[in-house]
Amino acid sequence: MTIIFRSNRVFACILHRCKYSTAPKSVSTVQINQKEFVADDYTNVTPKIISYLGRNLHLQKDNPLSIVRQRIVNYFYKSFTLRGNPAFSVYDNLSPIVTTKQNFDDLLIPLDHPSRAKSDCYYVNKDVLFRAHMTAHQSELLRSGLDNFLMIGDVYRRDEIDSTHFPVFHQVDAVRTQRKEELFADHPDLEIFEPAFDPENPHKFTNTITDPSKQSCHTLEATKLMEAQLKNHLIGLVHALFGKDVKHRWVEAYFPFTHPSWELEIFYENNWMEVLGCGIVRNEILVSAGPNNSIAYAFGLGLERLAMALYKIPDIRLMWSTDSGFLTQFQEKDIDAKITYKPVSSYPQCKNDISFWLPPTLSIDTFMSNDFYDLVRDIGGDIVEQVKLKDKFVHPKTKKHSLCYSIMYRHLERTLTQAEVNEVHKAIEKAAVEAFNVVIR
Ligand code: DAH
Repeated sequence: MTIIFRSNRVFACILHRCKYSTAPKSVSTVQINQKEFVADDYTNVTPKIISYLGRNLHLQKDNPLSIVRQRIVNYFYKSFTLRGNPAFSVYDNLSPIVTTKQNFDDLLIPLDHPSRAKSDCYYVNKDVLFRAHMTAHQSELLRSGLDNFLMIGDVYRRDEIDSTHFPVFHQVDAVRTQRKEELFADHPDLEIFEPAFDPENPHKFTNTITDPSKQSCHTLEATKLMEAQLKNHLIGLVHALFGKDVKHRWVEAYFPFTHPSWELEIFYENNWMEVLGCGIVRNEILVSAGPNNSIAYAFGLGLERLAMALYKIPDIRLMWSTDSGFLTQFQEKDIDAKITYKPVSSYPQCKNDISFWLPPTLSIDTFMSNDFYDLVRDIGGDIVEQVKLKDKFVHPKTKKHSLCYSIMYRHLERTLTQAEVNEVHKAIEKAAVEAFNVVIR
């Protein structure tokens, strides 16, 4: 993997020698928003990905993501007030460049957890990455003393290419904490914590999650009451967005930062669709961030999936459209109005296959498709609609390994000519040869 990135000319344009720093000449750097970062074996962020920074679709007027964001914020503003003021504060402009401590360590994500893999995240270097989820800000906001808050923004993940996946998407994440006086206002005899846990000396107690119903430090009453509140609040949100008739179900889940954990699914177009993850925040996270006498719930949801379902938007790339034919469809004065997206028109698709022999150092099992997808995005840009692994082949005699991908091209706003697609396709072949040392078949 390291070798791939080091020899990768596609990525070389962002890795340049730092002319003015005092670092040794051989140090490569990555420049992001006028800031220079030292590059290393982890660096895999591409110029294309860097170019999405600052687009803030969730804050752009008439963007469907922004409308759904506002509807969610309104629901929380309306549902929770403290002496007439909203109880939740909203953070929608936090920097997406975070440390591995924020994105993983603070959330108890183990060092060998698959979500840390280079093949899944965009790393600036081994200590810094483009946040992979909004939960990355949970600890810092708790540490600053907040108790009820929403974190909204763009998140980055390396993934396949199709109509529902884009390397940048948007999430709303939330935390609601309660002290005993709030949670058990009507039952002062009940406690949040088991007697063995002393909030004044939290480190004397080893919190465990072996009991599926609760963390060992919490009482069952506190956990169950929080669970009921969490589920009610989230069903209320789904009703506010989709209407009261929507069918839903809860599915047990696992997240390193919550216990117990659940996913909420809604029945949409004849399928169960997962809309969010949630749970009771691990007490270790609260204790190390400050509030050692509270219990909290948290949840995270993706805005694209909700917006696509609510407005029947067929392709995730449309969210990035600046075309007025798209945006004007969402220009309603009433953000709760029912809007159904009408395709302006559908332009034809061009399909080209790419097949290559892998170098002897790689096999059909070790070649990282996500590396290839990033290269296709870098060269092809947003006219790439889908990339599919079509065939894996090992030659019976030479034992050489070969892969074949289908690349579907479609422009959302005009017809592409086969000649221009061929040119892009050739450029992708050339870049693949340089980046991965493959031989086109
Ligand atoms: N961060 C998770 C993800 O991106 C979603 C999530 C699950 C967020 C549970 C939460 C939570 O705050 O409590 O998949």
